[in-house]
Amino acid sequence: MTNIHPNTDNETEKLALEGGEPVRQKALPLEFPGGHFIGPGEIAAITKVLKRKSPFRYYGFEETHETDLFEKEYAQFCRRKFALGVSSGTAALSISLAAMGVGPGQEVLVPGYFWVSTVGAIVRAGAIPVLVDIDDTFCMDPVDLRKKITSKSAVILVVHMSGAPGRLDEICQIAKENNIKVLADCAQANGSSFKGRAIGSFGDMAIFSFQLNKNMTTGEGGMIVCDDKHLYKRAFACHDMGYARDDAGRLDTSDQQYQLWGQGCRMNEISAALGRIQLLKLPQIVKNMNTAKYKIRNNLNDIEGISFRHIIDPEGDSGPFLITIFNKSEVCQQFNKALRAEGVVPPEVGLSNIPMTEWGLHIYYNNKSLTNKTSVSDDGYPWSHPANIDSNYNYSKGELPQMDDLVSRSSIMSIPSVLTEEDISDIIRAYRKVASHIFVKEKITKILSVPSTKTHPPLSITDRKSARGLNVSK
Ligand SMILES: Cc1ncc(COP(=O)(O)O)c(C=O)c1O
Repeated sequence: MTNIHPNTDNETEKLALEGGEPVRQKALPLEFPGGHFIGPGEIAAITKVLKRKSPFRYYGFEETHETDLFEKEYAQFCRRKFALGVSSGTAALSISLAAMGVGPGQEVLVPGYFWVSTVGAIVRAGAIPVLVDIDDTFCMDPVDLRKKITSKSAVILVVHMSGAPGRLDEICQIAKENNIKVLADCAQANGSSFKGRAIGSFGDMAIFSFQLNKNMTTGEGGMIVCDDKHLYKRAFACHDMGYARDDAGRLDTSDQQYQLWGQGCRMNEISAALGRIQLLKLPQIVKNMNTAKYKIRNNLNDIEGISFRHIIDPEGDSGPFLITIFNKSEVCQQFNKALRAEGVVPPEVGLSNIPMTEWGLHIYYNNKSLTNKTSVSDDGYPWSHPANIDSNYNYSKGELPQMDDLVSRSSIMSIPSVLTEEDISDIIRAYRKVASHIFVKEKITKILSVPSTKTHPPLSITDRKSARGLNVSK
């Protein structure tokens, strides 16, 4: 790597925030990991579908069977028996919960760090979400999970946030001990693995999203994977018109076991054609993000004032986000502002390198429909359903103390799949520059604020280096 000076004395460089020269002038690339990789392969694949005038999965002028093929390839990729292409990750969540028979009188355990779709799917199923705290992995905390299980717990909806899972072994073990099903929301972690196993292979069912800001994209789209034929057949009926189909794709309404209600969320052939090409590129996309992320982390891990999200299996991390943790909320805000002023920002339309408090509907207490227990019908369903009356939970800030604390003093930055060595080097330099100013000031303020009758001697060079957050032993 070029141009990285881990121990450069940045003290002399004025912060951009205070009128100094910013580390970089050019915005970083936009997020959208799979989007950057859309090229001639994708164009040719969708052109083929369009030329045949057959974008619908089950009939057309000259069918291409792209969705059938995509599902086969995806099931193989996840080491699963079944894969079902759907219209979005949100649909995949709803359909999976329906396949699992989730409804009123049941509770679904979900971490407080999620996306609105995750919790929305539970409420729309008629069940009650039970928030579980997160731990240093920024995913579900197994210790809190145990405490939140009740006789109504039907599903653990584990969410592999920001590219990687948390303590998945423990969570699966708890589910097994308590005979609770696991649905894994892998929307943000496509292409990741955990201890050598594809991420989609964990849980009774797992879902993916192919929306534009995901590791691979079809614009909009999603996938459900599982090994249980019965769950698959239920999911199939629910994603379509509520019935099975025969091998020729014709509706088969004869099997009473699969006479359900459909949600009309089929995948179309254009999305599938795009997805098949993107799936081939996914390993490279993930490799790029993982490599860039760990170059950044490894070049900053000597700074005392910051730490990073705990990733249990860094090799399996798909890498789209870097979460930096500070010791105090004010320091996080101040550091982030200074880092942004150094040019560590995406173009205006992007959302990256922000304090996590600004991470919108990913944070449970920012979801007004949840905190206010909103209903789409006038009768207050599902909150008011007689079978749910005993499940009376609060969703406001303060419910998950570990998450509230972590979010208040962490920032999140996208790691685009096309970062150059220069981009990476600039990010590292900017972090170090800001750290050298902010942490030295913080330390001096601390020293000066200690009431003492003695006069402090001037700081030695070693003191000054360690006060800047630089590990002097390195
Ligand atoms: C964790 C998580 N779950 C579910 C979804 C929903 O996926 P989609 O946008 O495809 O509906 C998303 C993405 O937006 C997500 O980040």
